[in-house]
Amino acid sequence: MREAGRILGLVHQELGKEIRPGMSTLDVDRLGEEMIRSYGCIPSFKNYNGYPASICVSVNEEVVHGIPNAKRILQEGDIVSLDAGVIYQGYHSDAARTVGIGSISKEAQELIERTRQSFFEGMKQAVAGNHLFDISNAISDYAESFGYGVVHDLVGHGIGSRLHEDPEIPNFRQRRKGLRLRPGMTLAVEPMINAGSAEVVWMDDDWTVITEDRSLSAHYENTILITEGKPELLSLTEEGKAAGFENLF
Ligand code: MF3
Ligand code: CO
Repeated sequence: MREAGRILGLVHQELGKEIRPGMSTLDVDRLGEEMIRSYGCIPSFKNYNGYPASICVSVNEEVVHGIPNAKRILQEGDIVSLDAGVIYQGYHSDAARTVGIGSISKEAQELIERTRQSFFEGMKQAVAGNHLFDISNAISDYAESFGYGVVHDLVGHGIGSRLHEDPEIPNFRQRRKGLRLRPGMTLAVEPMINAGSAEVVWMDDDWTVITEDRSLSAHYENTILITEGKPELLSLTEEGKAAGFENLF
């Protein structure tokens, strides 16, 4: 899982740098799939429950699970959530980033940064002896402090030799504690945060999730390992850790 995560972190870093106005969301998927395979990994999303692509590419008001399409052209000012999963020697990693296309609005930039930070607020709680919902509560308290809507209908998950394992990991405040975190647990923590209401709806393709009020949405996800000390961020490059993480503990 360390190796799967290391590769996925690199794929996100490289893919994020390649995205430009004029590319279609299908171009993004093709490029991402090529990168994943070039590292000797299998894209885990492809054909998962019938999902037709390797990368979920979700633009602006699309929250997650956007289906890549040759006719959907990215434009300056768009924000794009890229969600990818890889399998390396039977073990999974899952991670997502939201990136801006060219220059984007201040509101969009803030939404992206705060969604990312909500994940790191969750990480401060991702230590052995704490409970699972300490992570959920930290994410939602931070995101809601800006008036954002924390999506309820989709959650993070355990991950390992399958993409989705127990437990479910909500991003919104819970009244219970949830299970106790123990070293060796591997989790995919993935806040999905809307600039407006938390409500989402499904498009006719039965995959693409959009905000009900059509406000912008951002997504940030990493595969993590619970240890005796601070969590290990398996799907984040050293650069990514330096940007958001090393100063947390
Ligand atoms: N990253 C998504 C998740 O965490 C997976 C996308 S589902 C797929 O659950 F079908 F598109 F693969
Ligand atoms: Co996931």
